[in-house]
Amino acid sequence: MLTDKRILLVIGGGIAAFKSLDLIRRLRERGAAVTPVLTSAAEQFVTPLSASALAASKVYRDLFDLTDEAEMGHIELSRAADLVVVCPATANLMGRMAAGLADDLATTLLMATDKPVMIAPAMNVRMWEHPATQRNLATLQGDGIAVVGPVAGPMACGEFGPGRMAEVPDILAAIEAHFADGPLTGRHVLVTSGPTHEAIDPVRYIANRSSGAQGAAIAAALRDLGARVTFVTGPADVPSPSGVEVVAVTTAREMLDAVQAALPVDAAVMAAAVADWRVENTSDIKLKKDAAGLPTLSFAENPDILATVSHGPDRPQLMVGFAAETHDVTAHATAKRERKGCDWIVANDVSPGTGIMGGPENAITLITQAGAEDWPRLSKDETARRLAARIAEALT
Ligand code: C5P
Repeated sequence: MLTDKRILLVIGGGIAAFKSLDLIRRLRERGAAVTPVLTSAAEQFVTPLSASALAASKVYRDLFDLTDEAEMGHIELSRAADLVVVCPATANLMGRMAAGLADDLATTLLMATDKPVMIAPAMNVRMWEHPATQRNLATLQGDGIAVVGPVAGPMACGEFGPGRMAEVPDILAAIEAHFADGPLTGRHVLVTSGPTHEAIDPVRYIANRSSGAQGAAIAAALRDLGARVTFVTGPADVPSPSGVEVVAVTTAREMLDAVQAALPVDAAVMAAAVADWRVENTSDIKLKKDAAGLPTLSFAENPDILATVSHGPDRPQLMVGFAAETHDVTAHATAKRERKGCDWIVANDVSPGTGIMGGPENAITLITQAGAEDWPRLSKDETARRLAARIAEALT
């Protein structure tokens, strides 16, 4: 429930703006008070009257007149909320926010507010992938702005890919998670997830079978306990959970950089299946099958992210590593805990017969300083919830 929570909802001008009307309705159903702000472009997609009727509130528009200022000045409006939500956040709006422009009511409020801000980006896939948008995204995340979505899917413009706004239930979940008070409220936890891809040439790479399902479930479970979660993910099969700060990477070295940029944190859960080696003699052009002889790949060792952070100056209070083994699981994982310098190891048997790697269930052995605990075979979601609860216990 969001009883008595005050949401200032900035509606940007994109085709996804129609979903913001549904968001208003559902926020109100949950007890929140919604004050809509429409950019002038948004008025091309939704009418102020519909937003006002659904919110049962005055709608603030770009044409902010003196009567409005007499009723409530823009500074006051920007602060009379518990959370500012921008939905949809267009490429243009993100760019203006990242640049610190205040050239209309919406961007002025976003500059003036002292409250947390959450954005739900929505735009064409090329615009989303454009380096300028990705730079703006990194800037906004660095400014502490929470980002929900976007997701991959068919778009109104006929193209397909990331850029489609997160669905309303996911935006709601992120808003509810933001307000949820739990044992990890005020704590910052880092989760790594998924495989890494290490290039051989521009089209081929070395990878592993990790789906990223367990890491995503852990991030969601920590979020549900109130933690601020930074989720550093390789190219996973499963979508990233909503309500967490997602940093997408490809290689082990990029993952290390992203992890170090996220420090300091209270706890880190390194669930990623990081490639141990990368190809040293990568080719800038595609290797040809008809070239003389078979290609010979030489390998270099990747940095060990878990060991680097565990032995580093910004070591989190709790370091959790994973160990995917195919035999002598407990013995190998216990040795790994020592070697990597982490506090806990979540060990599992990933032999093909277990169906664990890439499957929906997990059966882990938790190795701590006190010894080894065998957990029953559970869904990855339930394993994640139990692990998150243990992390909360350890941090309090
Ligand atoms: O040595 P191994 O790959 O089995 O260790 C697994 C644990 O170490 C996982 O927590 C994984 O995320 C982490 N790891 C890492 N960097 C590497 C290899 C593994 O952080 N290069």
